[in-house]
Amino acid sequence: QKLEEMFAISPYNQLALSGVGPIKDVKIFDTTLRDGEQAPGIALSPDDKVRIAQALDSLGTDIIEAGFAASSDIEKETLRQIKDLNLNATVCSLARSVHKDIDAVIDSGLDYIHTFIATSDLHMQYKLKMTPEQVKERAVDAVEYAREHGLEVMFSCEDATRSRMDFMKEILLAVQEAGASSVNIPDTVGVIIPKAYGNMIAELHKTLKIPISVHCHNDMGLALANSLAAVENGATIVQGCVNGFGERTGNVALEEVAVNLFANYGVKTYDLSKISETSALIERITGFSMAANKPIVGRNAFAHESGIHVHGIMNNTATYEPFLPEVVGAKRRLVVGKLSGSHAVEGKLEEMGVKFPAEHIDELMEAVKKMSISGKEITDAELMAIADDIMWKK
Ligand code: KIV
Ligand code: ZN
Repeated sequence: QKLEEMFAISPYNQLALSGVGPIKDVKIFDTTLRDGEQAPGIALSPDDKVRIAQALDSLGTDIIEAGFAASSDIEKETLRQIKDLNLNATVCSLARSVHKDIDAVIDSGLDYIHTFIATSDLHMQYKLKMTPEQVKERAVDAVEYAREHGLEVMFSCEDATRSRMDFMKEILLAVQEAGASSVNIPDTVGVIIPKAYGNMIAELHKTLKIPISVHCHNDMGLALANSLAAVENGATIVQGCVNGFGERTGNVALEEVAVNLFANYGVKTYDLSKISETSALIERITGFSMAANKPIVGRNAFAHESGIHVHGIMNNTATYEPFLPEVVGAKRRLVVGKLSGSHAVEGKLEEMGVKFPAEHIDELMEAVKKMSISGKEITDAELMAIADDIMWKK
């Protein structure tokens, strides 16, 4: 079966996108090892980072932001180690727009830097204590300095979505002129809505010649919608983290971006079939567990319990699944619990080689409901034990 045929998305999507120009190529910029590691509760050893970088590479990531070189000598060494793996992905480090940070990236042997400075009045006044003129000067100096040392440069306006558009245009045009190869427009605190972000990106796309990257935090739950709105309006690089890790409530979950880009825009980024294993690996290494209801990779993403749903799924999986679990290398789970119907329970027992007598099904269902009243999922072994007990008593 062709990948496209494994999806059962809404016919309204294509209609809604009829005015959007063709979206050809979108690059995935993964910051799991940098912004992801900034999440309270996550700390990665050099070996962890190497293992994750390899997995991100085989998933098809284009750029891996593997850390913040200036943070320590160990971090610099780890970045060097990841660079020496000779991955297909470009390896990059974050740096503030100061020479000390840029030197650390040069020392780590990388040839791609992501440098940033805040451009909102709020950050300039209360955090940087700098005037807009000083900020612009610092940004241009950082890009020029990095370019002089042979680095490819992505430049970010931190807190872009609360920055004045005229100032941002001024600074972005200046860094473009100074040799930046792309610019990033972060929604640092996750405060913009999709329509507004789309408008911002469209305006900057008209103004600039270089590619635009987007970086959406999920504080208000809009990171995915904002990232897609940005792509519809000309952004060609999407930053985020696998599993949606990152500061506070996280960055956009890149597996969600990749699946949506393919399903709704026909844009291929990841090898989608590797999503589940990569997500699980990162979950294991970080010890940061995923909510069961997390889209795409949560334990319940392809789990069905209620009788009506299981019945539908048994007839045609598209009834209650937007796409086949195999698309992302996952497996469907038909769960026996409080809302299960007798078809599902009989089916489950049959899978385990037991033909349960029809005349005792009511008793079996009674026992199943009693055991799962507190919301507990009944395991295969428990179901077998209940069924055995009833059959043996008769
Ligand atoms: O959220 C943010 O603004 C960032 C920048 C450093 C790009 O992570
Ligand atoms: Zn961020």
